Amino acid sequence: MAALSRTDLDRVLAAVDADLDASLARLFDFLRIPSISTDRAYAADCRRAGQWLADDLATLGLVAKLNDTPGHPIVTGTSSGGAERRVLFYGHYDVQPVDPLDLWDSPPFEPRIVENAEGVKRIVARGSSDDKGQVMTFVEACRAYISTIGRLPVDVAIVIEGEEESGSANIGPFLEAHKNELKTDLALVCDTGMWDAQTPAIILSLRGLMHDEFVVRCADRDLHSGYYGGAAANPLHVISKIIAGVHGPDGRITIPGFYDDVVEPSDHMRDSWAKLDLTTENFLGPVGLSHPIGEKDRLLIEMVSTRPTFEVNGMWGGYIGEGAKTVIPSIATAKITCRLVADQYPAHVRDCVRAYIRSKLPPDCTVEFLGGEGNRAVAVAHDNPLLAKAASALGEEWGAPAVTYGEGGSIPVVGQFKKVLGQDTLLVGFALDDDRIHSPNEKYDLTSFHKGIRSWVRILAALAE
Ligand code: BES
Ligand code: ZN
Repeated sequence: MAALSRTDLDRVLAAVDADLDASLARLFDFLRIPSISTDRAYAADCRRAGQWLADDLATLGLVAKLNDTPGHPIVTGTSSGGAERRVLFYGHYDVQPVDPLDLWDSPPFEPRIVENAEGVKRIVARGSSDDKGQVMTFVEACRAYISTIGRLPVDVAIVIEGEEESGSANIGPFLEAHKNELKTDLALVCDTGMWDAQTPAIILSLRGLMHDEFVVRCADRDLHSGYYGGAAANPLHVISKIIAGVHGPDGRITIPGFYDDVVEPSDHMRDSWAKLDLTTENFLGPVGLSHPIGEKDRLLIEMVSTRPTFEVNGMWGGYIGEGAKTVIPSIATAKITCRLVADQYPAHVRDCVRAYIRSKLPPDCTVEFLGGEGNRAVAVAHDNPLLAKAASALGEEWGAPAVTYGEGGSIPVVGQFKKVLGQDTLLVGFALDDDRIHSPNEKYDLTSFHKGIRSWVRILAALAE
């Protein structure tokens, strides 16, 4: 098939610009569907979001399907234009819960454009950045090709799941079952960020995750704190003490075995840091902090990308209603997650954490664990020639070369692309640090959306060469 001419590329880019309002209107329709995957009450909305996307992909002339799984359905859309190269594009249509709802300035599923004091326009809604806005950058790029030159420069297999925010339990088996149709030259994932608003990024590693929940019980009932106080164990104190001991004064995690399989970052990763300067002021300043709490001998960028963590995500027990209640509760719970790095195993880290908690438990107290396993950290190839093509396409769009580094979040499926399909992954996204993903008032800059679409137009053209 004929390669794309410069004129064709310019026509497609011009179509993106001309169609931006219609692209935004489609994104807004998608954002209005509250596809919260972790909460069963929204299962029908998850399906509705998947169906909306499948219908939209069908308008591009793709063979689009909503594939049932034991959880939320997976959307696929494939082209068969006979192009020499074929890529898989992955994203997710599910979103995180919206609470605390009272901290939102506008309803999370009523998207709007908000202009800040500097005149920067932002799309505000749950999922605007993570990940519906990012998914639509790719879909709109495909639309621009099809509406102007009538074909895509590379063939695509689009796979959009609805369970990324709840651990991606069904995507691995799905890839396994559809290996033959889904094996392509490269997987593209749009679920990561840029270095800053001017500098595009290709992400080379992601952290893994282990999550657990533990319930501590002491007395066999709630007790009057005057009657029993001073003699009876309090499970909230027990949990607090255990948690307080997890980090030593040097910021290291004290759990025996926790660092067993951790490897130091590659030379390539260290070289990439040398070109970047992540400062406490720039990174923590905007969220109201001034002191990194990680290991004392590590760079800030290491703390948030290539070092493992232990976090309490929620902890409760006793009385939290209005006024006072003089009670010693009988039960307390904590939800924890650990971000994992190469070459840690979630099951080993979970075993170490559980053994540590058991070892710190005072007499009369019991602990029950309710958690799952998790997923491993991933590193993607940095020497695939297709990545270099993508990097120069990004550089052309943004007027600044793409930088590379690791990010600290997790995208569970990425490891499976290599393992199940045997293909490398390109992690490119247009989210910014201040997008408030997973938080109230999530936003996606209009520039991220617009130049994100244009970036994919250029990347697809470059991959065809
Ligand atoms: N888009 C994020 C992953 C991400 C966040 C990548 C920040 C790079 C930087 C993704 O949707 C996400 O939040 N994933 C979850 C996965 C978990 C629930 C298994 C995460 O990282 O918490
Ligand atoms: Zn995401």
